Amino acid sequence: MKLYSEKAERFSAAGKDAAVFFATKETVLGCSEPSILSAHKQLVECGAFDCKENNLYSFRMGLAGQEKLTLVVLIGAGEEPQSPQPRKVRDAMGKTAKLLEKEKAASAAVLFPESFGKKEVAKGGEGLLLGSYSFDDYRSEKKEKICKEITLYSNSGAALDTANVLAAAICQTRDLVNLTTWDLHPADLAKKAKKAGEKYGFEVEVFKPEEIEELGMAAFMAVGQGSANTPRLIVMRYRGNPESEEVLGFIGKGLCYDSGGYSMKPSTGMETMKSDMAGAAAVIGAMGAIAQKKLKVNVTAVAAACENMVSGNSYRPGDVISSMSGKTIEVDNTDAEGRLTLADAITYTIRKEKATKLVDIATLTGAAVVALGGEITAAVCDNDELWNKAEAAAAKGCEKIWRMPCDMDLNKNLDSKIADMKNTGERGGGCITAGLFLKRFTEGLPWLHLDIAGPSYTKNGNDVCAFGGTGCGVATLYYLAKAFEAER
Ligand code: BES
Ligand code: MN
Ligand code: ZN
Repeated sequence: MKLYSEKAERFSAAGKDAAVFFATKETVLGCSEPSILSAHKQLVECGAFDCKENNLYSFRMGLAGQEKLTLVVLIGAGEEPQSPQPRKVRDAMGKTAKLLEKEKAASAAVLFPESFGKKEVAKGGEGLLLGSYSFDDYRSEKKEKICKEITLYSNSGAALDTANVLAAAICQTRDLVNLTTWDLHPADLAKKAKKAGEKYGFEVEVFKPEEIEELGMAAFMAVGQGSANTPRLIVMRYRGNPESEEVLGFIGKGLCYDSGGYSMKPSTGMETMKSDMAGAAAVIGAMGAIAQKKLKVNVTAVAAACENMVSGNSYRPGDVISSMSGKTIEVDNTDAEGRLTLADAITYTIRKEKATKLVDIATLTGAAVVALGGEITAAVCDNDELWNKAEAAAAKGCEKIWRMPCDMDLNKNLDSKIADMKNTGERGGGCITAGLFLKRFTEGLPWLHLDIAGPSYTKNGNDVCAFGGTGCGVATLYYLAKAFEAER
């Protein structure tokens, strides 16, 4: 789908299959076409359309000078005037994209109300692109998209560059999550990262098992050693500000499959575990967007990719393993594997990549989903300045996030009788305890932990996303990197 941006005064639906407007009960905002205005009036009067925010109503009608019927889409604008929220606009446009596809409209003109500024229009564009995403790699018949071009008319005539870049990055991340493990073993994920690096302009280095062992990443290796598909350490480097020593470290959990290992998951709950690499997918997507937009910032992203499987060679509950940091860990539960891989990835990012700030993103705990549900990212952060930037970045990216307390009293949960620590604590506070486990490896650097176990995957779909991977985290990471940009 291609998007175009135009000034509102040039609005015309001539030659387009569809015309899209926002409407209050009083009027169709910005519309001067008498036939549409009178249709709207009658629809409201007979109660067919309530104009409630983000409700859609569509019908076909003949417009003056048009050969074919035009699909008219009215989007409820609620009570105007009010300040429109970017997220609402994005969601409305996501719904619109799905409707246009269903109604087989190849082209459309969208008229945004006067009150919509650049932000709203850009988010609207992003919503159209995200809403039109579908994943049909595993269908025998591939459907070609019908809706090909949409023109966005607005007062601001906003640029859609960032919308295009972000939507592409988010969709790339969704693709990675939606691929089954069969098509995305650790080595395949590494190849995908390399491809992204070549396409968007960042460096990618991949470490094989012998090299990972050489680095001393014993905790990471322990998790991956039960699978026939061996681990890969994927390192992505982007230097947009070479004069600076500051390096943002993004660390993504890359479990290409998580069976739980010997602490095996029940069968319900295992079937979506190909998505346990959503954190790695998010950092790959974000790196692409950051490099494409040439942000003046240095970022190194690291993904420790492996599979948590059961075999004669798997690690076991009760094992004591070492780690790159030198700290020893008692494996209380092999299903708490993500933190083991992340611990080593964090140490690597600090000691070998010289990162100065750390952000990890991981489908880490079911506890985060219990606490906040399926749409909100749970954050743990030990630095208020970093958190403030992260909260603002999530808002810009229209992603929901909530900070959990970084309460050190929960730390005692991780005490082990035989090793430096164990990898699980009590059930209560599980999301925070997982964060505190990671904090033990951050060597005092400012650190932000994003648990995306809930929002990285949707079983039911939503306005801007189909079934499956959502691309959660990409926008937040992108805007966070942007917040650390050097003055231009
Ligand atoms: N990958 C899971 C977490 C998860 C759960 C992601 C649901 C997405 C949806 C993680 O590796 C895991 O198994 N965590 C355990 C930790 C526990 C053993 C302390 C959990 O949350 O049950
Ligand atoms: Mn697990
Ligand atoms: Zn996992």
